[in-house]
Amino acid sequence: MCGIVGAIRSQGPVLRGLVEGLRVLEYRGYDSSGVAVVLPGGIQIAKRQGRLENLEAVLQDGALEAASAGIGHTRWATHGEPSDRNAHPHRGASGKVAIVHNGIIENYLPLKNELLEAGVTFESDTDTEVLAHMVDREFARTGDLSAAVRAALARVQGYYAMVAVAVGDAGSMMVCARQGPPLAVAWSEDGAYLASDVLPLLPYSNQVTFLEDGDMAVMQPGSVTITDFSGNPVTRTSREIEWDPEDAGKGHYPHYMLKEIHEQPGVIARTLEGRLDEKAGDVVFENDQLQDAFLADISRVQVVACGTALHAGYIASYLIEGLARVPVDVEFASEFRYRDPIIVPGTVALAISQSGETADTLAATRLAKAKGARVISICNVPGSSQVRESDQVILTRGGPEIGVASTKAFTAQVVAAVLLAIRIGRAKGTLSADDARGLLVELRMLRNQLEELLSENMRTHIKDLARRHAAAKGFLFIGRGVNYPVALEGALKLKEISYMHAEGYAAGEMKHGPIALIDPGMTVVAVNSIGRVADKVRANIEQVKSRGGETVSVGSDPESHEIAGQSIKVPACSEWLSPILNTVPLQLLSYYIADLRGCDIDKPRNLAKSVTVE
Ligand code: G6P
Repeated sequence: MCGIVGAIRSQGPVLRGLVEGLRVLEYRGYDSSGVAVVLPGGIQIAKRQGRLENLEAVLQDGALEAASAGIGHTRWATHGEPSDRNAHPHRGASGKVAIVHNGIIENYLPLKNELLEAGVTFESDTDTEVLAHMVDREFARTGDLSAAVRAALARVQGYYAMVAVAVGDAGSMMVCARQGPPLAVAWSEDGAYLASDVLPLLPYSNQVTFLEDGDMAVMQPGSVTITDFSGNPVTRTSREIEWDPEDAGKGHYPHYMLKEIHEQPGVIARTLEGRLDEKAGDVVFENDQLQDAFLADISRVQVVACGTALHAGYIASYLIEGLARVPVDVEFASEFRYRDPIIVPGTVALAISQSGETADTLAATRLAKAKGARVISICNVPGSSQVRESDQVILTRGGPEIGVASTKAFTAQVVAAVLLAIRIGRAKGTLSADDARGLLVELRMLRNQLEELLSENMRTHIKDLARRHAAAKGFLFIGRGVNYPVALEGALKLKEISYMHAEGYAAGEMKHGPIALIDPGMTVVAVNSIGRVADKVRANIEQVKSRGGETVSVGSDPESHEIAGQSIKVPACSEWLSPILNTVPLQLLSYYIADLRGCDIDKPRNLAKSVTVE
């Protein structure tokens, strides 16, 4: 989805920093990019359709290099096709104001008609240009950028994160506002910086302040003043972001996805750090989160999430029902938000999100809250909207996840769900200290087991399997129980990055339809670990084999490997933890297949990392 950066400095050029900021945001998905900078002669804009390199080529002449204030944008088209003219920034008629914007101006048509009647000519098909002209006209009247933004936003309906840069008598001015999509600010002695994501801010400061809906910020070198839309000052605390700017790099890996797959042993260890109390046979969360008093009267859990996070939510439902005996429902956030859901007393909404900014998940959470649910979030981004709006939070400590296909965030979410299930089970007395202790011991073993799964031998073996199956006509991933969602995730990963048709199915349901798909061109990946349903999945593998399908068994069940013929052997562990281990080889299999097929692994077509609009 769209990305925003902005910088204003007392001296020193900003252009390079803006472009680097846009590069860091590339992972979110975009179809064009642009910058607007303030130069003595007025505002200059450069923008291009396509990859950031296209913009960089235009900037090579150095004409915009000297500017000490500017804004930048990566666009994901909503109003108007991806093109140079529709790319942001957009300027008003005076040439003194430029704007970038994420989100949607819902009432842009009547506003545009009004401007057309007043003689304004438009250069693009975007809703954003309407906003640019509105701010520009007001600014031309008063010379006060904050007042101009306020006046324009008072007439706008929709949700947006926007930044206006202007040149006036006193030099450069920059104002941003948030009503929906995320926006964060940071400052140093001689500069102030903003971005739609914390990553571009980290080179300047690790103290980041997130704007809330209804906030505006006036950016000045060395300070940021935050007010509401009426201009009344508001206080927002800054948060320390412990991520290293280096974490946002690819290191020696060819793709972010491969790097992030390999980071999983460390991420899981960090997500467990300080949270396992083996003596008490319990889990402890920092900052007094998820104490007995909050958990004891939970009567029902409603998971809301999207994409990969939803699959972690399905696994959470097995864990919470199994270990804590609390009924759990799981629903796509995008469906939940448009139902009239029944929230019974004692309901907790469990929102799971890597970014903490997914529009559907946020809307579903808000709806559950409005209907009386308390909210627990599992989230990877400290300070994100999801975190700020939740009563209780479990942070996954995954560091920045850049690859569009989620990997380390998923396994960390599942680990967080295990911790949550244990904690609820202990608070409610449904899980004994001894049983909990057994799981804690197993959790500690995950790091080494994950390292084993990422060994060179394993990678070579999975690469061989990838070669054998890269031309299959389709893939079916099957699993049962707590590994059924792993099958869903395996299929999602493959389709996202390799564009092959893949379906995830509950193994027991095969006979009700999908078995008709089985023939020698079809690869069936069966996820099966030692546990309650292992023999059932074995029978499902037999059914596929007898119909001529190619079968690959993934998991710790030796008999399944024997039946399937092809296998990926995963270390044995508690059935509850098996999804964490079983997922990793499926990530590698998808990665290698996509690589063999020459796909753009980190930026799959049509996908965005963080879907902050509906
Ligand atoms: C997008 C991404 C997925 C992700 C989903 C939910 O669709 O491409 O990888 O699982 O959003 O994102 P979240 O940040 O809420 O986990």
